[in-house]
Amino acid sequence: MRSEGLRPETRVVHVPQPAVEGSRPIAMPIYQTSGFAFDDPAVMADAMGRSDGPFVYGRYTNPTVRSLEQAVAGLEGGAAAIATGSGMGAINTVLLGLLKPGDHLIAQTSLYGGTAAMINDLVGRFGIAVTYVPENDPAALRAAARPETRLVYLETISNPMTLVADLPGMCAAARELGIVSVVDNTFATGLLCRPIEHGADIVVHSTTKYLSGHTDVVGGIAVFASAELHEKVWHFAIELGASADPFAAWLSLRGMQTLALRMERHCSNARHLAGRLAAHPAVSAVHWPGLPSHPSHELAGKLLSGFGGVLSFDLAGGRPAGEKFMSSVRLALLAPSLGGVETLVLHPATTSHRSLSADELARNGIGEGTVRVAVGIEHPEDLWADLSGALA
Ligand SMILES: Cc1ncc(COP(=O)(O)O)c(C=O)c1O
Repeated sequence: MRSEGLRPETRVVHVPQPAVEGSRPIAMPIYQTSGFAFDDPAVMADAMGRSDGPFVYGRYTNPTVRSLEQAVAGLEGGAAAIATGSGMGAINTVLLGLLKPGDHLIAQTSLYGGTAAMINDLVGRFGIAVTYVPENDPAALRAAARPETRLVYLETISNPMTLVADLPGMCAAARELGIVSVVDNTFATGLLCRPIEHGADIVVHSTTKYLSGHTDVVGGIAVFASAELHEKVWHFAIELGASADPFAAWLSLRGMQTLALRMERHCSNARHLAGRLAAHPAVSAVHWPGLPSHPSHELAGKLLSGFGGVLSFDLAGGRPAGEKFMSSVRLALLAPSLGGVETLVLHPATTSHRSLSADELARNGIGEGTVRVAVGIEHPEDLWADLSGALA
């Protein structure tokens, strides 16, 4: 638009847009705009109802957000994705987008505390029934299925006990029964495991964690194996309004570029610490799927191309020992979350899994002396010096 002849009050509103021709930016620009203008009313009307049309409005998607959606869908081998403002936003977009009162959900017993709390809410307030089954038992899934079962919900590597789900067996059972399978792949990322290749219909992530990797953004994403399922949930997503912000999407995109390097180091550091913790007299058990003693070790060897960067361990001295340990670390930070470059420790029973009852905590194997370590990318000897100092 030409600005000559317009008054200053109008000119400050209608800022010029750069026309980039003959080259393109290497880094994805942040499209910090809430909406898009059209020349043709018919094109605009058509765009409002389609997930794959021209950009319309920030709650629908945005070029920076779509770039993240395409990058994660590509990594996971999915048809399309919906980026959201948090991991819980992605999980809720899928659960609320596909379930209705009277439906039944099958979930694995060991789940992230926020997801477990949401499922309890669905049961208590939305009239949805749930049955919990072990993450590696397709026969239990078949036995739990009812005519009204709509969803099966799994975690590739569970939080915080690092149990690995039998994705091929569980997703195949769900598919035979006509039930949609949803897998939280936050701990593994598409670099260590791609659930869609093992039969999953939807993959969800907290991009806050490894995908972004720098502890500077909260975000989530749901990736869909089929365009049809994506389209169905997308219509609900724009009603729900759980959409990602362009700057947050940009931070996640930038973080993802170093995911492979970071994941390699997270996994090798976790191996280093898991082995040394297992040999320490103050530690009664270490939960990391790379250890031969871990119940998922064999399955993890087949499904994952690395055993992940999160481990948990039980202190022989129980809760007092756990509290002493967490106030004694100097390098590792006592903090929520995981997947960033810094090593973080927390006490799941009173933080990430505080919504679980004593019975539910016991069912998940989370004890009073269980400590979770989200292993960062520091030098492994500095990390061991810190953890062993705190144990001493
Ligand atoms: C496995 C897993 N899924 C989902 C979430 C929720 O993600 P967000 O905190 O980004 O909402 C978390 C958060 O810790 C998590 O660990």
